[in-house]
Amino acid sequence: MTTLWSGRFDGAPDATALEWGSSFGFDRRLFEDDVQGSRAWAQALRHAGVLGTEEAQALDAALAEILARGQADPAILAGEDEDVHSFVERLLVERLGDTGRRLHTGRSRNEQVSLDLRLYLRRRILELQKTLVSVVAALAEQATAAGDALMPAFTHFRPAQPVLVAHFFLAHAAALRRDAARLSAARDEADALPLGSGAIAGTSYAVDVQQLARDLGFSRIVANSIDASSDRDFAATFVYAAGLAMVHLSRLSEDLIILCGDEYRFFELSDALSTGSSMMPQKKNPDPLELVRGKSGRALGGLIGLLVTLKGLPSGYNKDLQEDKHAVFDAEDTLAGCLTVVRAVVAGLTLNRARARAAASGLLLATDVADYLVGRGVPFRRAHEIVGALVRKLVAEERDFSSLGMNEWRAASDLFGDDIVGRITPEASVLAKMTPQSTAPGAVSAALADLRQWIAASSALLPR
Ligand code: ARG
Repeated sequence: MTTLWSGRFDGAPDATALEWGSSFGFDRRLFEDDVQGSRAWAQALRHAGVLGTEEAQALDAALAEILARGQADPAILAGEDEDVHSFVERLLVERLGDTGRRLHTGRSRNEQVSLDLRLYLRRRILELQKTLVSVVAALAEQATAAGDALMPAFTHFRPAQPVLVAHFFLAHAAALRRDAARLSAARDEADALPLGSGAIAGTSYAVDVQQLARDLGFSRIVANSIDASSDRDFAATFVYAAGLAMVHLSRLSEDLIILCGDEYRFFELSDALSTGSSMMPQKKNPDPLELVRGKSGRALGGLIGLLVTLKGLPSGYNKDLQEDKHAVFDAEDTLAGCLTVVRAVVAGLTLNRARARAAASGLLLATDVADYLVGRGVPFRRAHEIVGALVRKLVAEERDFSSLGMNEWRAASDLFGDDIVGRITPEASVLAKMTPQSTAPGAVSAALADLRQWIAASSALLPR
């Protein structure tokens, strides 16, 4: 096999080491980006007077043909080539001979691989965002279907206060919306043209990088050729954004694993997204959600792996950077797969209203009792003590507020009036909330309307 640099050496490279170090097995995913970049580079060389019009046209036609063949039959993306850049150049030289050999004038693979990865992320992040928006839409559907249904919210994983079930779904949607914004920021960071950087010092040909940036749809040029040859911040930003999205999917999964479990059963998982046990006939296991939770560990490992790879590098390109592809592709694949399965799980959930409502009443209304006393002029700290003592008594007697007679209320405080009974329900509790981010039914409807607008606006911007 020949490499792009064999002229420098007396003997053949060690075949095992060369094959081991080849990236073509995984960087073939950059094929269309590589061809796109090379077509633009051929035009830039023509404008710079390096290539004649005919040569540039021949290069463009051959690259277009190579692209079409590769897209029609991905199986042709094979061979002993060192990487996707070598592969495309080999095909070009096979077709055009010396004209093909002129394409790499003034260009280095160091900037080429950065360009390809930037182009790749620019298009692939949009696909991830599209799937992410579909998960948010499934959460919005569940929030809509839940209507005025109630459930407890938890702190320290102990029942804390009643909330609308819709509020729970919208909480997860809020985190995923931030992920969408973070992915957009990663896309913006990748949006800088590295071509013109050469191997490290820039290029000695009069390449119009501004025009090249316009041709390739970049909004700006990188600032410094040394920095550009080893800058993978945009890749790390992407892997971080994907990793944090995985953290959110993992937490949603954990919530659903618990709340669909036998102890809570607020929701029922669809059979299609559950699995059975080979031995215990009664089991209905949430395997897909557990896998999402498990894969979040891998996603975060990939982020740390990439950051550590970058940490010790001297300025300029180093082959260590080839590892960036593993981190980026694995983050993308992991997130894409998990988004798809979480969307299906969320869409398939059935709410068990009665069970969720029952779990939202009882002693978790204690704050509302304290707030009642505050409304009668008692300082909150004092009200907390009074209600705390009442809770202690009810816990000991295994009762809750609904079983208290008026005489018992009055024994706790003579400020309790007959209206206390109607005030201490989960419905009254959520209605009493006053802030826009709260679980008050009006606030939740407004949040849901805002979310629907966001879904519509996002969908309009993303690929069909
Ligand atoms: N496969 C290489 C990578 O992924 C491409 C760049 C090679 N550049 C070089 N000077 N060897 O980083």
